Formats: sequence, structure tokens, C-alpha cells
Amino acid sequence: MWGGRFSEATDSFVAEFTASVNFDQRFAKHDIAGSIAHATMLGECHIITKEESNTIIEGLKQVQAEIDAGNFNWSVVLEDVHMNVESRLTDLIGTVGKKLHTGRSRNDQVATDIRLWLREETDNIVELLIKLQSGLLALASKHTHTIMPGFTHLQTAQPVSFGHHVMAWFEMLNRDTQRFIDARSRINQMPLGSAALAGTTFAIDRTITQKLLGFEGICENSLDAVSDRDFAIEFTSAASILMMHLSRMSEEIILWMSAQFGFVQIPDRFCTGSSIMPQKKNPDVPELVRGKAARVFGQLTTLLTLMKNQPLAYNKDNQEDKEPLFDCVDTLSGSLLAFVDMLPNITPNADKMRDATMKGYATATDLADYLVRNGVAFRDAHEVVGHAVALGIEENKDLSELSLEQLQAFSNEIHADVFDYLTLEGSLNARDHIGGTAPNQVTQAITRGKAKLEKLKAK
Ligand code: ARG
Repeated sequence: MWGGRFSEATDSFVAEFTASVNFDQRFAKHDIAGSIAHATMLGECHIITKEESNTIIEGLKQVQAEIDAGNFNWSVVLEDVHMNVESRLTDLIGTVGKKLHTGRSRNDQVATDIRLWLREETDNIVELLIKLQSGLLALASKHTHTIMPGFTHLQTAQPVSFGHHVMAWFEMLNRDTQRFIDARSRINQMPLGSAALAGTTFAIDRTITQKLLGFEGICENSLDAVSDRDFAIEFTSAASILMMHLSRMSEEIILWMSAQFGFVQIPDRFCTGSSIMPQKKNPDVPELVRGKAARVFGQLTTLLTLMKNQPLAYNKDNQEDKEPLFDCVDTLSGSLLAFVDMLPNITPNADKMRDATMKGYATATDLADYLVRNGVAFRDAHEVVGHAVALGIEENKDLSELSLEQLQAFSNEIHADVFDYLTLEGSLNARDHIGGTAPNQVTQAITRGKAKLEKLKAK
């Protein structure tokens, strides 16, 4: 392939060791699309003749057809996807095939391929995210009035609506979707035309290839264009944050599915049994997604570490960018695909959730707020309620189950109307402002959520 300069052939182990074709053939479609655009531009700029350009393009289409049909013979000796495609092209159309690489290098070629491929994958991820988000909106709409304990420190804190909790997930994912959409515009910049590192001596027109390949812009520095992979790191960062979110949701579902919580069920198709314990229904899918988050964080670390010592411009190290990125995309799409089906099909057990909310003195803050409204300073109110809770614990009763006389013993600012504030519904309804858990607010958040999704779809 580079015959001229060498006096002995590449060692067969070295050829195998340095080859990337076993994994980068995943780019074949994008590599050929990039080559067709390049050949078109070479023809239009009269760097090769129109006829040569057309012959090359027809040949490339034939190569694509062979790959699609599964008839393509990938060769490790030809190192990578680029050389494999070019070599087959020359077999098919003869020496004119050798003109394709005029004014181009594998360095700008591979950078272009990754970006074309990743752009497509980003679109797939965004589509899955939008599906998942709309599934969450549907789930939340069914449960604006379903009451569960809200937790801090995993201790019962205050009553919340299950719909409100689901909408928290929606918000997390909404930022994830925005991150991918935002990263897409930096992915969608064209390195092609940078050649090996310094540009080319031929009078190319990069705007032609840019338009043909649908790039938003052109990478403006050839050294930077062939070398940096920050766009891939950015994608993997967004992927890591998203996996962190999916993992947190998984953790909640796993906890809630335990007999001790008993808050939710997920359909059997997302679970497996135990080979020894007949009673088991294990939440395998959420557990696995929680585990897979670790993998994606690992790929992010791999890519950052891969880049941190590289001087400008291209270094062979960069060949190591592909497998982490592929694994990241595959892990992420798989996890999202599972979630798209699983999350909207969660069935909460409203009775269990309600019982749990009744147990943890979730309305204690409501009692304190009540006292404040009756003129007691918050710190004093806090103390009064602390005593009331202690009595409740002693008598194994919720605050709402203590008698008016018992409550009044702690403060003479407690009156008969106090019980309106100690019910779970009263507690929820009282948090009636943007971002609060009042069912009426959750309904409005869902409406705004729908509008947010429409906005994302339009991007
Ligand atoms: N397989 C290489 C990669 O993935 C393609 C670029 C090779 N360029 C070079 N100068 N050896 O990065």
C-alpha cells in the first residue's frame, strides 16, 4: 500500500496488530458517502475529469452494493475500511480508482467518517430519548394524584405525587436530550479537505463537499481537524450523564420493587427468576442498566486519556477512539431501548405507597408551617412538632391520629382546623407553585413538558 519507501514487508503480526478493519468496517457506508462527495468535488473543480469522477462514483456505488449484499471480502492486510474500499474500487474500475485519493488523506477521511457516523447515531439517540420522555409524560398524567413518600437521605421526608416524581425523571432526560442536540452541531463540522494535516496543494472547494455531506460547517484549521476528537468526548460525556440518570432511575425501581417497599411492579418481560429460589422476580433490566453506566463512564475515561498526551496533529493513537465510541453508542442505545418500553409500563401500588407515606411523619413540616402561619417563629414551631412526633412514635400513631388535646398540649396555637393540614392530600395541595408537588401543578408541568417535547422535536 505504501510500497515505495520500504525494503521489507510489514511483519504479519504487525499488520494484524495495527489493522482496524475488523471494527472500522462499521463506517463503510459513511466512508463511501465521503468518497463520493470527494470525487464529485474533484470533478467539479477540474482536478480530475468529469468522466473520471463519474467512473469513480459508479465504482463506489458498486462497492457499496457488494457490502450491502454481504459479498465484500474484508482484508486485514489492507489495514482499514478506507484502504479496503479503495482497493476494491481499483479492482472494479482499474487505475482511475487510484485518483480518488487525490488531495485527501486517511487522516481527514477517518475524521470525516467518524463524524458522519456519530451524527447519525446522535439522531437515533435523540429519537429514543424523545420517545422515552413522551412515555414518562403519559405515566405522569395517570398519577398526578397518586401519593408516595418523598425521600431525603432515603428517609421519609414529605408526601409527593408519584406523577411529580416521574416528572423529575422527565426533566433530567430533557436536559440530556438538549445536551445531545447541542453536541450534534459540534459533531456536524467537516474535516474533509484538511488532508494529512496541512491542507492540500490542489484547488479544492470544501463548500462543495460540505453541502453534499450535509455538514453544518467546515473545520477551519487543518491541524485541529485531523487530530481532535473532542466531539466524540463530548458525546461520551453526554452519554455518561444520561447513563448516570438511567442508573439512578434504575436504583429507585429496584428499591421500589423489593418486598420491603412494594411500591411498583414492572412487567415480567423485564425480569428473570432464580434457578434456586422459586419466589424470585429479579429486576434484571434496571440492574443491568445500572451496571452498564459503569461501562460508559469507562469509555469516557478511555477517550480522555487517549487524547491527553497527543501532540498535534494526527497520531495513530487515534485509531483507539473507535471501539470505546462504538461500545458507548451500543450500550446507550440498548439501555434506552429497554427503558422506552419499561418505564411507561411501571405499575405503582397506590395503597402501599400511601401506607408508607403515613408511617414516616411526612406531614411534620406541614404542622410546623401551620404554626408559623399562626404566629409562631419557625424554629419554635420546629421544636413543638419535634415533641409531637416523639409522642406519635411512643404511641405508634401518625400526627393526624393524635387527638386535638394531645397536640394542643404542645402549643396553644393549634386549633381544630389543624387536621386539614395533616392529611396527605392537604399537604400535597398546599405546595401549589411552579415546581411544587400539588397535583394541579403537576398537571401544569405535564402540559409544559408536552410543549418542551414539541420544541425538541422541531430541532
Ligand atoms: N485506521 C486509522 C484510524 O482509525 C485511519 C487513519 C490512518 N492514518 C494514518 N496516517 N495511518 O485512525
